[in-house]
Amino acid sequence: MSASATGFSMYRPGAAPASGAPAPAEAPPEPLLGPEAKVDMQADEAAARVRAVLAAVDAELVGLAGVKRRIREIAALLMVDRARARFGLEASRPSLHMSFAGGPGTGKTTVALRMAEILHALGYLRAPRVHPVTRDDLVGQFIGHTAPKTKEALARAAGGVLFIDEAYYLYRPDNERDYGQEAIEILLQEMESARASLVVIFAGYEDRMETFFSSNPGLSSRVSHHIQFEDYATDELAEIAELMLTRDAYRFTEGAREAFREYLDRRRTMPRFANARSVRNALERARLRQANRLVALSGQVGRDDLMLITEEDVRRSRVFTDPPDRG
Ligand SMILES: Nc1ncnc2c1ncn2[C@@H]1O[C@H](COP(=O)(O)OP(=O)(O)O)[C@@H](O)[C@H]1O
Ligand SMILES: [Mg+2]
Repeated sequence: MSASATGFSMYRPGAAPASGAPAPAEAPPEPLLGPEAKVDMQADEAAARVRAVLAAVDAELVGLAGVKRRIREIAALLMVDRARARFGLEASRPSLHMSFAGGPGTGKTTVALRMAEILHALGYLRAPRVHPVTRDDLVGQFIGHTAPKTKEALARAAGGVLFIDEAYYLYRPDNERDYGQEAIEILLQEMESARASLVVIFAGYEDRMETFFSSNPGLSSRVSHHIQFEDYATDELAEIAELMLTRDAYRFTEGAREAFREYLDRRRTMPRFANARSVRNALERARLRQANRLVALSGQVGRDDLMLITEEDVRRSRVFTDPPDRG
């Protein structure tokens, strides 16, 4: 049965429910536009939602200029794809599987959620949802366990994004009987299917992702968007800290601000440094120290006292005393 025989393009965003899945509650397919029609790329509701997501990404994420540019490019590509579909211009579903390569705490999970919102706004997903998994969620310990596990994960992610963190652990070249290969094959089948009901995002450290994709050319050829997440500079981490504090109605004193930069310079050379996640954790501990300090006070505390993180709250971190630990 050829879809084009009916005059429709093979794929129309928002109009192609996955096999077995309920049709999206949204509008039925609009009638095709005639060759002389015009569409306003900025005026429709989907475009407005995409603009709102892009604005949120700009407002809530410090730096990441390259990532933000790629998100805009992908959004533009899909908006054009949608506009083309309205004219019946033949197009297969664009391949949307992606790779997010970068260190821990560089924003990959956060951006995956925003990407899901964009894909949903434009009708490529049924829900703006991300189902995060790691190897253990996909690969079984015993023969016969892997296929049901992987299929279960695919079913849970259906209609949204399957986010595979540290995806390279699926592939263990040293062990030819590893069940990871079975999981990869099932994923591949789903990704290759024209009716794929989900988008897969592979995430992890850049160098290992490269090795993973070069050992799995089948996967690699299905991943059309490779996005790199750089480690943050100290300035950016400091700005991220300010953003997180402001959001929670806290702020640094001048002394705390300086101490926190020093903290960052030390912390980033230590083990298990995780970019913005380390910033978040450090601020949580500073809040704990602030709370202890305030509760121990004999006098009264005011609004400012409750908001301010002082130099002492920062400097009492173990990062300043015994460096080889997490601080
Ligand atoms: N550029 C950024 N600006 C502000 N906050 C950020 C930024 N990048 C990451 N974060 C925050 O840091 C934390 C870890 O980010 P996450 O997306 O989980 O990183 P990853 O998935 O790469 O490990 C989250 O709380 C996130 O909101
Ligand atoms: Mg993550």
